[in-house]
Amino acid sequence: MKEAVVKPKEAGGEGTEAAPSDSQDFPRPLQQLHGEVVRKLRAVGNPTPELDARLLITRAIADVEGHTLSHAAYILAADRLIAPNTQHRIAALLARRVAGEPVARILGSREFYGRDFEISGAVLDPRPETETLIECVLHYVRAAEIEAPRILDLGTGSGAILLTLLAELPQATGLGTDISEQALAVAQKNARRLGLDGRATFQIANWASGIEERFDVIVSNPPYIPSGVIDSLTPEVRNHDPWLALDGGSDGLAAYRQLLPQLGRCLKATGMIALEVGAGQAHDVAALIKAFDREQQFKISFHQDLAQIERCVVALKCDVFSHHFDILMKP
Ligand SMILES: C[S@@+](CC[C@H](N)C(=O)[O-])C[C@H]1O[C@@H](n2cnc3c(N)ncnc32)[C@H](O)[C@@H]1O
Repeated sequence: MKEAVVKPKEAGGEGTEAAPSDSQDFPRPLQQLHGEVVRKLRAVGNPTPELDARLLITRAIADVEGHTLSHAAYILAADRLIAPNTQHRIAALLARRVAGEPVARILGSREFYGRDFEISGAVLDPRPETETLIECVLHYVRAAEIEAPRILDLGTGSGAILLTLLAELPQATGLGTDISEQALAVAQKNARRLGLDGRATFQIANWASGIEERFDVIVSNPPYIPSGVIDSLTPEVRNHDPWLALDGGSDGLAAYRQLLPQLGRCLKATGMIALEVGAGQAHDVAALIKAFDREQQFKISFHQDLAQIERCVVALKCDVFSHHFDILMKP
């Protein structure tokens, strides 16, 4: 007899799971299932089949059997027999991955700067290159010895940037804005999960509009993909990251043009602005900062990610920091 169909637990799941045609109605060793999943992922050109297989199988076991296997426990469990209903769950998760859904979307979480962030269809899957922005801000706050920085994160999404900064800077507090209410609900949930809800607040806003307070640090990773390029992105990005998180208008710079004029009144005299930019956009964004900075207050620097792409544009008020600008700027 067929095992009962297992309903996925995560929000936005795929509904009732069809039993895969080649899944078996008898228990099979984990090692054998792992090998099969790896082969199927490899066959569709998956670049990380071993890792993805482990993550999907571990999730299926957690969903159906209710316990989580660490990486080490997974390796030691090679001979463990996996029940048919867990096999059905593995097959359902595998089908989503084979269809091009990113692993983080299937798992509903993404590791960013060493912490797990819940994600949903309403938020960008946080990217490793955004850790460059984190490094720039941490370096600056520590070098400038700002004891209890107030941080504003515009377009906070999952809250990955703001919450990481608060976790790394135990005295910091911050505000995250987003135009998407669903995104803010995810950020709020992540704040609670990380025990940071006492230091983070979230507000629905069109970038910084309506915000009257002044901050030590303003960060943003706005949407910066030119509209015409979105269709040519990989299906993993195009079909799963929200349009609102990707679309930067005709030249990719629309969000910077909207948010930059709002920042002067939100920044303290000793403040820093740190913006993530797309490949090749750093000089254009610096030019926009200069255009909005009529009093020529800001000194600007660029910071590369691990792929040597200029990923972060930082603006500091030069009159305040000119004497040790270089120290403040070199992570
Ligand atoms: C590229 S995502 C960045 C998300 C997150 N900060 C991160 O780095 O993973 C851009 C975010 O900006 C938000 N956004 C788009 N337009 C906005 C606007 N006019 N005002 C505020 N947020 C906006 C999107 O909803 C999305 O969450």
